[in-house]
Amino acid sequence: MSPTFLPMLGHTRGNRSAATCHFKCGNACAQDVCNTSANNYFRDIADAALSRRALLGLGGVAAAAVAIGVDVAQAPQASADLGGFGQGGGKLQFTAIAPVERTVDELTVPAGYDWEPIIRWGDPLFRRTPDFDIDNQTAKAQAGQFGYNNDYLNIIADKGNTRSGVLVANHEYTNEDIMFDPAWKAANPEEARRVAMAAHGFSVVELRRKKAGTKWEYVRGGARNRRITATTVFAVDGPAAGSDLLKTVADPSGKRVLGTLNNCAGGTTPWGTVLSGEENFNQYFQGTGSATDSRYGISSGATGRGWELTDPRFSARNAGYENEVNRFGWIVEIDPQDPTSTPVKHTALGRFKHEGANVRIAADGRAVSYSGDDERFDYVYKFISRDKYKPGNRKHNMTLLSAGDLYVAQFTGTSPASEIDGSGAVPADGSFDGSGTWLPLVVDGESKVEGMSVEEVLVYTRLAADKAGATKMDRPEDVEPNPVTGKLYIALTNNTDRGKAGKKAGADEANPRAGLSSATSNRDGHVIELTETGNDAAALTFGWNILLLCGDPAAPASQLYFSGYPAEKVSPIACPDNLAFDSRGNLWISTDGQPSTILYCDALHKVTLTGPERGRVEQFLAVPAGAETCGPVIHDRDNSVFVAVQHPGEDGTFAAPQSLFPDYVASKSRQKRGQVYGPRPSVVQVFGSRGNKGAGRSRGARG
Ligand code: FEO
Ligand code: CA
Ligand code: CA
Repeated sequence: MSPTFLPMLGHTRGNRSAATCHFKCGNACAQDVCNTSANNYFRDIADAALSRRALLGLGGVAAAAVAIGVDVAQAPQASADLGGFGQGGGKLQFTAIAPVERTVDELTVPAGYDWEPIIRWGDPLFRRTPDFDIDNQTAKAQAGQFGYNNDYLNIIADKGNTRSGVLVANHEYTNEDIMFDPAWKAANPEEARRVAMAAHGFSVVELRRKKAGTKWEYVRGGARNRRITATTVFAVDGPAAGSDLLKTVADPSGKRVLGTLNNCAGGTTPWGTVLSGEENFNQYFQGTGSATDSRYGISSGATGRGWELTDPRFSARNAGYENEVNRFGWIVEIDPQDPTSTPVKHTALGRFKHEGANVRIAADGRAVSYSGDDERFDYVYKFISRDKYKPGNRKHNMTLLSAGDLYVAQFTGTSPASEIDGSGAVPADGSFDGSGTWLPLVVDGESKVEGMSVEEVLVYTRLAADKAGATKMDRPEDVEPNPVTGKLYIALTNNTDRGKAGKKAGADEANPRAGLSSATSNRDGHVIELTETGNDAAALTFGWNILLLCGDPAAPASQLYFSGYPAEKVSPIACPDNLAFDSRGNLWISTDGQPSTILYCDALHKVTLTGPERGRVEQFLAVPAGAETCGPVIHDRDNSVFVAVQHPGEDGTFAAPQSLFPDYVASKSRQKRGQVYGPRPSVVQVFGSRGNKGAGRSRGARG
């Protein structure tokens, strides 16, 4: 059987595998740019009406104005609890590792640290679920086993108990080329598609350990264990629930959807539920070629996975299923403490390729959720709840994302447009910075977009934001508030199309690289630091500055920016994707592609944000060959870092794996056949020597 055709081969961004582009995003970068709107809004100093100084009201941002009344153990802590911010290394002390060659099939950690997998693709969640057997996969078994390609991750310890908790992970997508024996897949295409559907979604798994600071293990048969897949029942809520735009022949109510797809990043709310973004959902559906299809990248050809052959709802050409695709592209909320609860799709937060969502509580108690739309030239959004957060009232708080106002970000620069030349060179005032406005899309239950109803704004949010005049960004991935300072960090992973011919937006101060050559285009991404006016999440204006312009440290210094920290002293970093914070408020960044000029494995970095070392990037770990570092969770006070190792060995085949992560052994049956046991996406705990005997050992592709 011939391998899958990979359109991005030789054209990937940021050193990513062409197979990842194909299976994860449906080759999004090989398609035409979805956002062809004339909206090229960006104001520079010439017409900036708002003074940045007045907007920020800064001098010193009130660190006390951070999340209030947090309910979950790992949720934000006020800085007062931490003995001050900006003391350097957080509680995890380490010496940065050197970047790791891309072919190395090891999880590489700093000296004094060790790692172990907690759970792998196929590990059984329930007592009666069969053990993983790669040669005897069934959809039924997979629906009770840990899914494929874990992305968002959290480790939520139980209140008042350091020895029990739950692990929550998203399963973003499947790579059928390395999951299945090609001969079996060819003979059993229907079952293979159903296995893949069951390998998507979420897992919730109970954890236990002997004492704080040691390794967690998952509990098979745990009372809260749960799988959510592409066929699990979801409720739809918010203003678009029940809309004609969401009705199908199978669901005339428009309020009950089967499954969640391509769940990428996410966030854990202050009330302890988990949010997750349905990202590249377009690739699962065969569209009709409509204008709205094209704005969302939905093609009219047969899909790569062919799910429309198994279930008619995956093709809009099947009568009665024209709207099925509108039922994906939402933020979903699940309650990891209640396996019987019905997960919810929140229409109030809008429909686009949600990377994830993260909530901060505003000064007046309203919940504010931030979300990026991960596509070239798409936007950053925020939602402000109508009702207020009530500490300890979980039932009430779980309704907060059902009603409220939706906004999209418009950025304004301080420097003249002539100084933003697309090279990445810092303008004369010394920084890429400015102010911004949250433009209203829906406020007080009314549409603020001319010619669009509330339902239309929420279902076709990209088109509404085009009309509103949002700023086109370079693929916004995670948008995360720092729990210590309240500042927001936006990972803009890359965009090599900025400034290219064909009505594509050029450089602006918030997206300042637009070179036409590969050397100066924004192939390596950047990170924006955003401060809401008065440090209040409900503010409708903000200040911003670029924290990092990523790339190969050997590149000309004029193409890089580390907030003034010397570029030659940082670890190589590119394609920032998932963000996290330690207890001291240091930023941790995982990468989805390392500098294109250097063949390195993906990494997790710590970035110091305050003091003389602001902008210093230190690499903490590298994931194995072909993998991406997802879902970082930094429990520095618990001596641990957790990562979801996604798509290890993506460039291999079933017969000739590129990676044997995480077990590095061949199964007995396959050894007999001279074959080895292929890679398994897994959640890994990295722990320091404190309280852990035997640490400092390294493991990986030994022998
Ligand atoms: Fe699934 Fe935007 O990464
Ligand atoms: Ca400036
Ligand atoms: Ca991501």
